[in-house]
Amino acid sequence: MAKEGADMTEETEYMIDKNVGKETENVESSGDAKEMRAVILAGFGGLNKLRVTKKAMPEPQDGEVKIRVKACGLNFLDLMVRQGTIDNPPKPPLVPGFECSGIVESVGENIKGFEIGDRVMAFVNYNAWAEVVCTPVDFVYKMPDEMTFAEAAAFSLNFVAAYMMLFEVANLREGMSVLVHSAGGGVGQAVAQLCSTVPNVTVFGISSCFKHAAIRDSVTHLFDRNVDYIQEVKKVSPQGVDILLDCLCGENTGKGLSLLKPLGTYILYGASNMVTGETKSFFSFAKSWWQVEKVNPIKLYEENKVIAGFSLLNLLFKQGRCSLVKSVMDKLLCLYNQKKIKPVVDSLWALEEVKEAMQRIHDRGNIGKLILDVEKSPTPLVTTTNLICFFLVTCRNEVIRKHTSTDRAVK
Ligand SMILES: NC(=O)c1ccc[n+]([C@@H]2O[C@H](COP(=O)([O-])OP(=O)(O)OC[C@H]3O[C@@H](n4cnc5c(N)ncnc54)[C@H](OP(=O)(O)O)[C@@H]3O)[C@@H](O)[C@H]2O)c1
Repeated sequence: MAKEGADMTEETEYMIDKNVGKETENVESSGDAKEMRAVILAGFGGLNKLRVTKKAMPEPQDGEVKIRVKACGLNFLDLMVRQGTIDNPPKPPLVPGFECSGIVESVGENIKGFEIGDRVMAFVNYNAWAEVVCTPVDFVYKMPDEMTFAEAAAFSLNFVAAYMMLFEVANLREGMSVLVHSAGGGVGQAVAQLCSTVPNVTVFGISSCFKHAAIRDSVTHLFDRNVDYIQEVKKVSPQGVDILLDCLCGENTGKGLSLLKPLGTYILYGASNMVTGETKSFFSFAKSWWQVEKVNPIKLYEENKVIAGFSLLNLLFKQGRCSLVKSVMDKLLCLYNQKKIKPVVDSLWALEEVKEAMQRIHDRGNIGKLILDVEKSPTPLVTTTNLICFFLVTCRNEVIRKHTSTDRAVK
């Protein structure tokens, strides 16, 4: 991977947090290297562990592409990385982020198929939330001309994961039914769109109820996440569903398995239930683990059920399946060019607004994907002093206005 002699020379005022100053002192210094802005996670924990700093710019190594980043994807997984809830996380300080889009700035040795100036999207094994990223060429894909950088940053992780679960693992076919949790989120909306490319597929979506008006048309049946969805689905389909996509884990694993039709497939691909507050909760972690039904293969055999797991990042970065992912990306880009799928972008945020963006996911506010727009300036903060000044000036103007009108009346 690219060498990064990190150099924390400057921080934007916006992100400075005195509490985490110490933890960032471990970052190496790199003399006169060219610098770039990047989001740094100083240590695992709450939002205050995030800040924007200047770092030395990476240079591409053999087989790598250097990308001038325009937009980065912000995923639920990034919240879990921040909290330290994932398996084997790298040691902080680190630059988070697994995907970005931008323009090829230079290429390392032995690179074919990419040139300076190409518009690309890419997977990155951390380090995506920066102005410049270097990543192996196997994780880089050319963007269609009509695709915006924000769309491209919203595309890779959500659509590849959704496609591989539906078509590679569960073998989605005409007439089947699919249940998806967090239906209004990044992966949820990708699942809904991909299901609509197959005739006669019934999609049961579950999400917070305030999102229903916005996403109702993307699924066949939509339920509030607080209702007993087992009962609701069974009212429509007493036999259950063919494919159940579970990103919540915990008690939903047993529920999901119970809702499968014979020959149905349950896929676990996330553990959102483990996130219950701003920092890692050992109670939620233990509860989720404890609630997962212990799987008995004999029961699966008797009930004709399939249970599977899916992790795109492990497939890419640990299990070396990038050529399979590349073939999936080619199919997805065909669907995009045929206007059959289109990433849903919830909102754009400056790098300096990463805390507010993450808070929006914690608050379950997003519909579609959040994007960090590298060229966006942060929305100015309204400080208390500004508000008091505004109030005083308004009062003064009002007094002057009243005096003037009284004087006129007297005259
Ligand atoms: N295995 C893989 O390869 C892979 C790839 C991508 C994503 N994932 C997983 O897929 C899931 C969705 O990821 P995403 O990036 O598309 O995110 P997302 O769905 O956009 O995430 C935000 C939404 O998740 C729901 N949610 C469920 N539990 C929550 C909690 N404890 N706190 C806050 N929100 C919660 C909320 O929607 P509602 O309130 O409407 O439910 C929220 O708006 C995550 O579990 C993620 O880890 C897995």
